[in-house]
Amino acid sequence: MPMTAEANTRSAASQGAEGSNREIFLPPERKAVKDGGKPHVTAKNFSIFYGDFEAVKKVNAEVLSRYVTAIIGPSGCGKSTFLRAINRMNDLIPSCHTAGTLMFNGEDIYGKYTDEVLLRKRIGMVFQKPNPFPKSIFDNIAYGPRLHGINDRKTLEGIVEKSLKKAALWDEVSDRLDRNALGLSGGQQQRLCVARALAVEPDILLLDEPTSALDPKATAKIEDLIEELRGSYTILIVTHNMQQASRVSDYTMFFYEGVLVEYAPTKQLFTNPKDQMTEDYITGRFS
Ligand SMILES: Nc1ncnc2c1ncn2[C@@H]1O[C@H](COP(=O)(O)OP(=O)(O)O)[C@@H](O)[C@H]1O
Ligand SMILES: [Mg+2]
Repeated sequence: MPMTAEANTRSAASQGAEGSNREIFLPPERKAVKDGGKPHVTAKNFSIFYGDFEAVKKVNAEVLSRYVTAIIGPSGCGKSTFLRAINRMNDLIPSCHTAGTLMFNGEDIYGKYTDEVLLRKRIGMVFQKPNPFPKSIFDNIAYGPRLHGINDRKTLEGIVEKSLKKAALWDEVSDRLDRNALGLSGGQQQRLCVARALAVEPDILLLDEPTSALDPKATAKIEDLIEELRGSYTILIVTHNMQQASRVSDYTMFFYEGVLVEYAPTKQLFTNPKDQMTEDYITGRFS
């Protein structure tokens, strides 16, 4: 582990440039979101284990509706594990279990009667690597709605158009909806995955490092898209890129070794962190 106790006790000001070639990022000012800010996901002493290993440790936090919340922290600190818990994607890992509570709109995500299929309709997810189905663009988007019982062609056409427009992909693909989605560029495929998630009208979008496999131009398009969707959906985005977190998010969570060390408005976290560990991380003292 690169961070030493010594580094941890020295203040950023006295340390100068040593060990740090990154600036503290200045996030843009953001408008308040209309009707936003209510607790949408609430964690109370929420832990996630793989067998005996506690990968996420007693998190207490409220993710606010319709805002963009970034999750940052070094590799292996539990970002993906925490994100996947929100729509129970971790259920697919046999050794994985949880303690404490995690709630969505006041309902227990891990409650006995929670239906994961319905939960995942409300809470969509996009992964690091674009993963379209080897099907047509149309069928990729129509997949979720069909799964939930919509089969009328006209209705599906409407949903496909609306979802592709929301994902800022319509103009590029409207004349080739019957082509295989795997023929699209990586950036287009990732926007297709966003469109596919939006097609079932979720409340929450979980994005796990959605641009780490993309070039800078495609990354900028996804960031623009997040800005477009901000205010309409609650968005959680895991990113190892702090500049990206500061560009796209309203709130930022900093995780370290499974602990939610600091959670604050993005501007505050990047300009005036309360915790020395946060400060050391954002100034590049360890990564
Ligand atoms: N399927 C798994 N089985 C066992 N341990 C896992 C599994 N997935 C992740 N872990 C461990 O949990 C910790 C957090 O991992 P992860 O959530 O993937 O971190 P991050 O997304 O921040 O890089 C790491 O120590 C990792 O090795
Ligand atoms: Mg991860």
